[in-house]
Amino acid sequence: LDNGLMRTPPMGWLAWERYRCDIDCQNDPKNCISEGLFRDMADRLSEDGWRELGYSYINIDDCWSDMNRDGNGRLQADAKRFPSGIPHLARYIHNRGLKLGIYGDMGTHTCGGYPGTTLDKITTDAQTFADWEIDMLKLDGCYSNVTEQEQGYPAMSKALNATGRPIAYSCSWPAYQGGLPPQVNYTLLGEICNLWRNYGDIQDSWSSVLNIADWFFKNQDILQPAAGPGRWNDPDMLVIGDFGLSMDQSRSQMALWAIMAAPLFMSNDLRTISSEARTILQNKVAITINQDPMGVQGRRLLVESSGIEVFWRPLSDKTSALVFFSRRTDMPYRYQTSLGKLHYATGTYQIYDVFAQREMPALKDSTSFLVSINPTGVVMWYISAPADEDQDNAHAGGKL
Ligand code: GLA
Repeated sequence: LDNGLMRTPPMGWLAWERYRCDIDCQNDPKNCISEGLFRDMADRLSEDGWRELGYSYINIDDCWSDMNRDGNGRLQADAKRFPSGIPHLARYIHNRGLKLGIYGDMGTHTCGGYPGTTLDKITTDAQTFADWEIDMLKLDGCYSNVTEQEQGYPAMSKALNATGRPIAYSCSWPAYQGGLPPQVNYTLLGEICNLWRNYGDIQDSWSSVLNIADWFFKNQDILQPAAGPGRWNDPDMLVIGDFGLSMDQSRSQMALWAIMAAPLFMSNDLRTISSEARTILQNKVAITINQDPMGVQGRRLLVESSGIEVFWRPLSDKTSALVFFSRRTDMPYRYQTSLGKLHYATGTYQIYDVFAQREMPALKDSTSFLVSINPTGVVMWYISAPADEDQDNAHAGGKL
């Protein structure tokens, strides 16, 4: 969507995966969906180095609202859990240099059973969000049919635009259409949404992360061209820092989401996150790769029978990223290849190992090398333009 927003994939924090529909503030005051939770996370984003790295959105998901609309037919927050109100929370978040996202649903009810946005309520709800100084809307699609979605998703795009407030727009529409053409029209989505959920919900497990990554790369010929500045495929939240992933699997999620030019919305507890998980999420080069201004989504290059897969993303200034990923479950696998085999043009390249955080010896395209990849882990390289001698005929991955 060409509204000037999200020229690189959005980054921030989103409540759903970790906090779900926990509304039990009596017994679980620190984790229930309430203004305190969002203020806590805003404090952490602004005080623990996240905001400076680009993590700027604090996003509310389902279960924030009252069970009924107000006397004027407007959505209203649950008064017990948001006693200061959403406009006050928006100010709190804006004062910290952050942005506030909220959740709605094209349909009679949200997926959690709260009031939805039927076709006749689209203008009202867009105006309410603008009045509250909301910066992003995720519009889910439970409890609506194909026809209502076909009308509702474009209508909300128009209605948000008509408020005059820049509000980024996240559409769950394709996830309700099976994620693929001919049901999904990715050209249209790119015109009306800044990002879209293509596929099912992520869970806090490696099998879920792997299932999602597999679906996105299996369908890369369709999905990859759909992405670009202002319009992104969304494979769902980062679960790094939760309970389900090992450190190697956490690096794998970070690497593959960076290759996919995916939105980086963490769903974790920033108040208690381990320093190891934080180090992965705050990896500057991984973030630089994710946030590359050219905005070209990467691809899977190779699936080896050994269980090794190689991913590649072209980046600005003739740089690129490579990810070596292992599906194996035995031991670190020593994978042998060369940049030439990975379609790199003639030249000598500078290599930076993203998670080891160190410069590697320069590599000629023809030189065979070995990388050791841990089970369910990755090695990620940031590759710079070849040295002077070969500059004329070389660009990273130019033959692809
Ligand atoms: C759907 C969405 C999730 C989350 C829940 C909320 O399942 O895909 O991301 O928003 O609804 O109920």
